[in-house]
Amino acid sequence: MKKDLVSITDLTSEEVWLLIRNALEMKRGGKTPDLKGQTLALLFEKPSLRTRVSFDVAMYQLGGHTIYLSPAEVGLGSRENIQDVATVLSRYVDCIVSRTFAHSKVEGLATYATVPVINGLSDSEHPCQALGDLLTIYEKKGKLQGLSLAFVGDGNNVASSLALVAALVGMEFTLACPKGYELPEKVLTLAQSFASKSRGRVACTHDPLDAVKTADVVYTDVWISMGQEEQRERRLKDFAAFQVGGKLLDLAKRDVVFMHPLPAHHGEEIEQGLLDHPKSVVFDQAENRLHIQKAILVRLLSNIPRPKIPM
Ligand code: CP
Ligand code: NVA
Repeated sequence: MKKDLVSITDLTSEEVWLLIRNALEMKRGGKTPDLKGQTLALLFEKPSLRTRVSFDVAMYQLGGHTIYLSPAEVGLGSRENIQDVATVLSRYVDCIVSRTFAHSKVEGLATYATVPVINGLSDSEHPCQALGDLLTIYEKKGKLQGLSLAFVGDGNNVASSLALVAALVGMEFTLACPKGYELPEKVLTLAQSFASKSRGRVACTHDPLDAVKTADVVYTDVWISMGQEEQRERRLKDFAAFQVGGKLLDLAKRDVVFMHPLPAHHGEEIEQGLLDHPKSVVFDQAENRLHIQKAILVRLLSNIPRPKIPM
């Protein structure tokens, strides 16, 4: 049976730990499984630096290769319907990473493709980012269970995946956001149910100070995600009191680390210069996208029986 990674909810906490362990092992120079002869399609409706390059390099280092299909090329659901794209791609490639606007598109690809489908960011989730982030937090703190993460900003795709995965591994996730920008109800309910089993906690406040005062990790993301450009003026006003800067970090635990998935809008969600702050780990975080993508690819692509062609 093929396995997809469309949402964090496709994983158990054991599988999350396995991915982190395998990523660390490969990062430390351990034996790398061979994906020789395997091809990954990168089917993107939105721009990307990290996701595209890290998957491309990951596949190259694992012995396989990638084909990049840019937003202008495929017309997923417009030039050709999702079922036909998924069926045709499955005849050529061994795995598909897709970056879409509507989450239903990546779900549709997973439904119809006979090869694994990975969500490389949709309007609702960014699971690969969240897994890479746990790898970074684990490296910096030596544990995950019981750590407190304050997400200051929008209850968006990045926040949703992070809340779900943090809850799976027993972390305390607090979103500090303006009214009206909370996590989607469904995500909050699911994350809270994971947290009740893992001894974690998921909460929401409208006061950034309240969220960061016990934080081991302070995290933020852009206020205007890809596809929300028309809401720019309103969002800049609504989020004005939610900028993360050195002063806010000073109110957290002494050994707090600052994280951001990038790209960053300097002077908006972060104070100018914050990426170079001594507490910032954002470039290690960006590097870890490569190591976690390798673990994800190996998990989904190793030991998949190749279809036998009857003669
Ligand atoms: N963090 C992240 O996914 O970056 P890109 O949009 O550049 O891929
Ligand atoms: N929330 C951002 C994340 C980019 C990696 C967006 O969707 O644009």
